[in-house]
Amino acid sequence: MRQTPIAEMSNTNLLISPSVLAADFAELGAEVRRAVASGADMIHVDVMDGHLVPNISIGPPVVKSLRSTTDLPLDVHLMITDPLKYVEPFAKAGSDHVTFHIESDSDPETTIEAIRGAGMSVGLTLKPGTPASAILPYLPLVDMILVMTVEPGFGGQSFMADMLPKIREIRDAITQQDLPTHLEVDGGIDAKTIGLVTEAGANVMVAGTSIFRHPEGAKHAAKELRENANLA
Ligand code: DX5
Ligand code: ZN
Repeated sequence: MRQTPIAEMSNTNLLISPSVLAADFAELGAEVRRAVASGADMIHVDVMDGHLVPNISIGPPVVKSLRSTTDLPLDVHLMITDPLKYVEPFAKAGSDHVTFHIESDSDPETTIEAIRGAGMSVGLTLKPGTPASAILPYLPLVDMILVMTVEPGFGGQSFMADMLPKIREIRDAITQQDLPTHLEVDGGIDAKTIGLVTEAGANVMVAGTSIFRHPEGAKHAAKELRENANLA
């Protein structure tokens, strides 16, 4: 049975979204089950086209296979130039949620409507060099804002602490407008950095390397993350 949709989860709850980009792709099913058993709230799926970001990862066929491994929401992060064109294939593959980049070529409002129309929740994200002001007009239209805390394209990079004021600015706007919008962070989130991002107002943690490559296992990693979070 499908779990609670992302849009129905509280935006003041700590939610963990392990990124399968850091998993062993040869063992993807087992890796997802390992993440689920760690107490994950959703599964983060990174889609890269080699245009919007300098790397190529996976597409709808892999999402379709992942769909059969878990009932948790699939939190799909489209790092692609033309997200509008791929809304339907990702919906058909079984995605629950699609986040796209404000830096993409697709019109934001049209893309938001298309994602909703396909029965999924919607996220909007921005690269480190893009100011919060670029996404703030769309805040009431989306279920989630994702602040990239590394340059998108690769896992295992170092967290950019200079993104903290942007996280705070967006959380303040969410609170001021009394919106249910989730605030997700992605890149370099681990037991050390989670305290900083939660204090700044983020509630959804993408965690790739820190969950899948933890020497003591995913369960221990997730426990460590929750212990070090500092949600207001
Ligand atoms: C980066 C991806 C991330 C990545 C995070 O472009 O969007 O989701 O998997 O990896 P870690 O947690 O290892 O920084
Ligand atoms: Zn991501």
